[in-house]
Amino acid sequence: MSNPTAIRAHGVYKRFKTGRTHIEVLKRVDFDAAHGEVTMVMGPSGSGKSTLVAALSGLLKPDEGSVRALDQDIWSLRSGKLDRFRLDHCGFIFQGFNLFSALTALQQVEIILKYQGFSKREAREKAANALMEVGLETRLNQRPSELSGGEKQRVAIARALAKNPRLLFADEPTSALDGENGQIVIKLLQRAAKQHGAAVICVTHDPRLEAYADRVIHLEDGLILDDRRTDHSATAATAAHAHRHSELIEA
Ligand SMILES: Nc1ncnc2c1ncn2[C@@H]1O[C@H](COP(=O)(O)OP(=O)(O)O)[C@@H](O)[C@H]1O
Ligand SMILES: [Mg+2]
Repeated sequence: MSNPTAIRAHGVYKRFKTGRTHIEVLKRVDFDAAHGEVTMVMGPSGSGKSTLVAALSGLLKPDEGSVRALDQDIWSLRSGKLDRFRLDHCGFIFQGFNLFSALTALQQVEIILKYQGFSKREAREKAANALMEVGLETRLNQRPSELSGGEKQRVAIARALAKNPRLLFADEPTSALDGENGQIVIKLLQRAAKQHGAAVICVTHDPRLEAYADRVIHLEDGLILDDRRTDHSATAATAAHAHRHSELIEA
């Protein structure tokens, strides 16, 4: 059985004006991603990956085409509604962490939850839980300057996951990290998909992350060249099936 579709884009074009000419960065891209899966978008630098994620996540309006996310045509929403949609349903993780330098780890996560409408107490509790889930329970009161790169990215992940988003967008989340920290980060993203049912859309050009993808989409020069499910996701699906099967037999 396949997972339910979370996001579906049709015929997306994006052009940028540079001087007198336009460059076409996305050329009629069709894209979809499912809940419970890690969908990886790979491709060389400049191929349009970040532009695609921005178009899918309501950050940058495409010139043509449509994006349906969680059954809403996001680019037909009024801008206030679109902001609310992103706040309620989307988590973002970027290469550069995007943390506030003056805030502690706990405050970085809390502030988003308060903005979303949670009370002070609820925000504190949810933030502490999210930081615990990424293994930072001993770092709650440290500021970014007192955290390692891997820890900073885990704070950013806690901030994205605290609201339990249905859509999680990560743009090169491991490229500023060493291999070991990169692995911690991708495993946390995978957990968001597998345990919380988020649709995880992860842009990367790190081939080591492919092992954690259910599906890998190759983008080149604004076109999707290749879209395949990974073998290990087939294996995982078979294992899950075998597991269910044995449960049935035992029952
Ligand atoms: N705001 C912009 N104005 C003009 N050109 C842009 C803008 N954003 C991106 N581009 C160009 O679009 C192309 C694709 O960019 P991007 O989506 O960031 O690629 P990737 O994330 O795959 O490296 C690049 O050639 C980049 O220079
Ligand atoms: Mg990019």
